[in-house]
Amino acid sequence: YAVQDERPSRDRVRVVAHRGASADVAEHTLAAYRKAVEDGADALECDVRLTADGHLVCVHDRRVNRTSNGRGAVAGLELAQLASLDFGSWKASALSEGDEAPDWLTDPVARTSVLTLERLLELVADTDRRVELAVETKHPTRWAGQVEARLVELLRRFGMDRNRAGEPSPVRVMSFSPRSLRRVRLAAPDLETVLLMQYVSPRLRDGRLPGMAGIAGPSIRILRSHPDFVPRLRRAGHEVHVWTVDDPADVELCVELGVDAIITNRPGPVLSQLGR
Ligand code: G3P
Ligand code: CA
Repeated sequence: YAVQDERPSRDRVRVVAHRGASADVAEHTLAAYRKAVEDGADALECDVRLTADGHLVCVHDRRVNRTSNGRGAVAGLELAQLASLDFGSWKASALSEGDEAPDWLTDPVARTSVLTLERLLELVADTDRRVELAVETKHPTRWAGQVEARLVELLRRFGMDRNRAGEPSPVRVMSFSPRSLRRVRLAAPDLETVLLMQYVSPRLRDGRLPGMAGIAGPSIRILRSHPDFVPRLRRAGHEVHVWTVDDPADVELCVELGVDAIITNRPGPVLSQLGR
């Protein structure tokens, strides 16, 4: 395969913390994101779903069963019901609690509460360096535009729906659904969008993405079997953000192919491997 000359150098590849520093701390908790920020991640990834009363919360699965002590679909529960659940204790932290433990580990609210997108945006806004946020819309077709509408409304409140004073918005939106990305771009044209891909469908083979997606988000499995897809995407003018890259050999493959961003559950070790 041909590797592009203008590919980012090793230390320029951006590192995106998938569901926070989720290898070490329960995914999608504030603690997981605080750890990712401390680890030096360039960006944070989160999945968002609508609650029964219209709040966007950061939960990956349709149901809360795997990641909390509750049961049921996020869409069937109100925020107050989700707030009464424990989203942290299902996963033993790889870090031991002790006198030297950082506050993200000892703070029970950060460790166990359901995380609203609003709270995560506050973290991004309050961090004293630029940290980007990649928000993935989950099952947007079910909600016929409500997820995207609520998302853009929230970003507007934080002044993150557009580029300001020459600085791009810190937020980009990701989805497996081109329709969801199109809705976002129509409502907020400044926002970058990432089309996620599990496989290379025939219509994407030439590397040109449909609709309004500027960034390609292939799975690492695609790169293992079709490494030539990356130069094709880059020739078509797309950045390439790859998920979910935890294996050191896969990190090397991404560097060699010149991807722009690595989305990983292990931001700290990946940053070290990249020499940062
Ligand atoms: O970053 C994209 C990746 O998160 C998509 O898969 O299932 O982890 O949301 P999933
Ligand atoms: Ca995701």
